[in-house]
Amino acid sequence: MSLVTTTEMFQKAYNGGYAIGAFNVNNMEIVQGITEACGELDAPVILQVSKGARAYANHTYLVKLVEAAVQENPNIPIALHLDHGDSFELCKDCIDGGFTSVMIDASSKSFEDNIALTKQVVEYAHDHGVVVEAELGTLAGIEDEVCVEAGHESYTRPEEVEEFVERTGCDSLAIAIGTSHGAYKFTPEQCTLNEEGLLVPPPLRFDVLEECIKRLPGFPIVLHGSSSVPQEFVSMVNSYGGQMPNAIGIPEDQLRQAAKLAVCKINIDSDIRLAMTANIRKHFVEHPDHFDPRQYLKPARQAVKDMVAHKIVNVLGCDGKASELTNR
Ligand code: G3H
Ligand code: 13P
Ligand code: ZN
Repeated sequence: MSLVTTTEMFQKAYNGGYAIGAFNVNNMEIVQGITEACGELDAPVILQVSKGARAYANHTYLVKLVEAAVQENPNIPIALHLDHGDSFELCKDCIDGGFTSVMIDASSKSFEDNIALTKQVVEYAHDHGVVVEAELGTLAGIEDEVCVEAGHESYTRPEEVEEFVERTGCDSLAIAIGTSHGAYKFTPEQCTLNEEGLLVPPPLRFDVLEECIKRLPGFPIVLHGSSSVPQEFVSMVNSYGGQMPNAIGIPEDQLRQAAKLAVCKINIDSDIRLAMTANIRKHFVEHPDHFDPRQYLKPARQAVKDMVAHKIVNVLGCDGKASELTNR
C-alpha cells in the first residue's frame, strides 16, 4: 500500500458525477480526523500541503504523518498533493520528497509566463510519475503570502483553457468561477437577504464552468476556495469568545452541483480550521481547569472528522467510491 496519484480518482469522479475532497493538513490531529472519516465512509481523498504548512510543520513530519495514515487506512486511496506551489524549485522539492501530485500556481503571471512555468513543472513531474494541477484565472483571498483583494480577482476566460492545457500538458485545471479563499468570501454588501434574514452570496458562475467543460471534454476541473463556512460554527466561535463577524462561504448545494459536472477536486481548508477552533474555544470555556493538550485536541480531532464526513456525503458525493478504485 502506497500513496497514489489522482489520475484514476479523477477519471472515476468525472464519469461518476462526484468529486474528491482535497483537505489541507498541518498537524497529526487534522491528518487523523480526515482519514478516519474517509476510512469509515470508504472515500478516496487528497491530503494537501501548502507552502505555509511546510514552513509550520516541516516537510518530513507531514510526509511521515501522511504515510502513517496510508498504513492505518489500507483500503483508502490517498494522494499527497502540494497546494499552491509558487515556483519550480518548490514543486521539485515536493516531487523529489514523496508527493504524488503538485499544483503549480502561476495564475498571477501573464498567460505566456503561466504556460512556461507550468510546462517546466509538468515535464519534471511526469518524468517522475507525478501529476500536475495548474490554474487559470485568479481567486480573491489569501494564499500563503499572496493576497488578492476582492475586486482584483478575475474569472477564468474559457477561450484560453484549451490552448493552456494543450501547451502545458497539465493533468487538471483550477478555474475561477466565484469561489475564494478564507472565511470571508463575500462582504454583506455583495449578498442578498433571504426570507429568514440570512445573507445569501452571489451564485457561482456556472456559465463559465460550462464553457470550460465544452472546450475541455473529459478533463478534470478543480475548485479552490470551496469552504461553506457553516453558520453554526461561526456562531459557536462567536459565542465562546471569538470574533468572526460576517464570515460567509459558498453554499453547499452549489458545490454539489459543480461536483456532478466536471469538477473532480474540491479544496476545503477553512471549514476544518473553523470546526477545530469552535470546539477548542468551547472546550476552554467549559473546562477552564484543563491544560493537557490532549483534552482539547481530542474534541478538535473529532470535529475535523465530523466536518469531513459531512462534506463527503453532502458536498462531494464520494462515499463508497474508494473500493471502486483499483489503484490503491
Ligand atoms: O489556499 C490556501 C490554503 O487554505 C492553505 O492556507 O497557506 O495558510 O496554509 P495556508
Ligand atoms: P477555503 O479557504 O475555502 O477552505 O479554500 C481552501 C483552498 O482552496 C486550499 O487551496
Ligand atoms: Zn487554494
